[in-house]
Amino acid sequence: MSRRNFLRGGAASMGLFLAASPLARAVAAATHPTQSTLMGFKAVAASTADRFVVPEGYVAKPLISWGDPILKGAPAFDASGTQNAAAQAGQFGDNTDGMSLFPLSEDRALLAVNNEYTNYEYLFAHGGKQDLTADEVKKSQAAHGVSIFEIRRNAQGEWQLNPASDYNRRITAYTPMELTGPAAGHALMQTAADPSGRKPLGTFNNCANGQTPWGTYLTCEENFHGYFASAQDEVELPARETRYGLKAGNRRYQWYRHDERFDLAKHPNEPHRFGWVVEIDPMNPNATPKKRTALGRFKHENAALTIDDSGHVVVYLGDDERGEHLYKFVSKGTYNPNNQQANRDLLEEGTLYVARFTANDGEIKGQGEWIELTHGKNGLTAENGFADQAEVMIFAREAATQVGATTMDRPEWVAVHPDNKAVFCTLTNNKNRGVEGKNQPVGGPNPRAKNNYGQILRWWPHQGSHVDNRFDWDLFAIAGNPVVQDGLYAGSDNINADNMFNSPDGIGFDPVGRLWIQTDGKYSNEGDFAGMGNNQMLCADPQTGEIRRFATGPIACEITGLTFSPDQRTVFIGVQHPGEKGAPSHFPAGGDSKPRSTIMMVQREDGGVIGA
Ligand code: FEO
Ligand code: CA
Ligand code: CA
Repeated sequence: MSRRNFLRGGAASMGLFLAASPLARAVAAATHPTQSTLMGFKAVAASTADRFVVPEGYVAKPLISWGDPILKGAPAFDASGTQNAAAQAGQFGDNTDGMSLFPLSEDRALLAVNNEYTNYEYLFAHGGKQDLTADEVKKSQAAHGVSIFEIRRNAQGEWQLNPASDYNRRITAYTPMELTGPAAGHALMQTAADPSGRKPLGTFNNCANGQTPWGTYLTCEENFHGYFASAQDEVELPARETRYGLKAGNRRYQWYRHDERFDLAKHPNEPHRFGWVVEIDPMNPNATPKKRTALGRFKHENAALTIDDSGHVVVYLGDDERGEHLYKFVSKGTYNPNNQQANRDLLEEGTLYVARFTANDGEIKGQGEWIELTHGKNGLTAENGFADQAEVMIFAREAATQVGATTMDRPEWVAVHPDNKAVFCTLTNNKNRGVEGKNQPVGGPNPRAKNNYGQILRWWPHQGSHVDNRFDWDLFAIAGNPVVQDGLYAGSDNINADNMFNSPDGIGFDPVGRLWIQTDGKYSNEGDFAGMGNNQMLCADPQTGEIRRFATGPIACEITGLTFSPDQRTVFIGVQHPGEKGAPSHFPAGGDSKPRSTIMMVQREDGGVIGA
């Protein structure tokens, strides 16, 4: 039996053979992959090369790599892995992820960039295979967080790091912060080192981001659980804690060895101080970052902010874990375009909602509603285990389950179309979907069992109002492999042999409405993933549904993080962890160099608008 026939038989026997079903056609009807007038570049082919490939007529150059000095006096990068914590604390952090650009003038800007995590195989000469010293723990903590630095455009039109700028700042896992909103100061936030429950130290696993119209940067804490462990073999934790993945055996990072707050047995409240969206003022290097607890505690991916016609600030938020949920925050106050100072604390107070989806009969589209997560409503009461609003926010996942939220295929980035009418969210993949005992049934916006490719969800708030609790939805794209698969696993009609990819993750719109899609998927280029090559960045026309590959990354990287210069002539793209787990990458320097996470600067040779 050929592979193709085997897969067809396998799918049919699971009752999932849907090639000719109304479900598959519903997707085709939603999009019309005709020639786009939004996209003017020639698609690039899938690639397994150790290079960053851009279309004909485009050039890509590294802007900054992990370890490049950004603070005055910091040493140059040293590939030996023996530099100390103080050196790392003055250098660009590791694993570049979400980023935003804040213009200072036509030729100067600040980049605020997340440094999600670090790879011990490259961070340390010993590869992390031995017990870390106290300085090594601190070095690891300094490789995390956020980097803020100035860039300047030179006479050739290229942007360059300004390492001497007074704006440059490193925020790490030990930078003093402030908790704000309903959970600040609560008993569950108090620790031995901070009895106030308001002054946590640091941020880490900063995945993706958001940007406010009042000039601040939002960094989102994702897989915080992995940094908490214990010297004790086992620590008993209630289900509302283990739901976040907390356990004594998470010893990969080893922080608990020398920073006691990361020992679960000693400081059980410390993890409650992570898993938030953090607001940072990049223009003031001395400003204290503020953790916004009104936006809920979960494994935050990004924070897609828009101003509703009513003036309320609306933030869409994904919780990236199998079977977790999609959220919406609506500010209590309204945005004042004439007084940015008055907007500074709009994220301190508001209402959090979680999404529940229903599908039309036999279609992959339907309706949805936002359910309020407010203490005293929808069963969020003391009898059901929620003493007050702080507990609803700290255990937002449990609250979402209580109100009947839909389990999703790992919600990653959300992006609001510039027309402010449609919202898109990547659902990256979910091997647990439809698996017995996982309580994640197939259906609605999660239509495939053991979903290994992912999909892009789209919804339209009722009557264009982001504060309305109703919406209509469909799937903009179902990723798949039309060469080796059939039915829904082959993907929607806008997926073909020339543009196929898996695990959509980062997304963002440019001002004219091109949708940019980045992947964090399997790069084996074999089996289910044959023909997809390395992780990549694509561009889509939301009107026609056409998707075209724009760039491909080097070996064993993820492409994540994107931001444009104000004139749209430069796009900055993150290449995260090339050569992870010892894969043979030497990106970006080549030769036998150590691979380094790097932000690429991409421009057109003719100086034109990116993507056009
Ligand atoms: Fe850090 Fe869900 O990606
Ligand atoms: Ca991601
Ligand atoms: Ca991902």
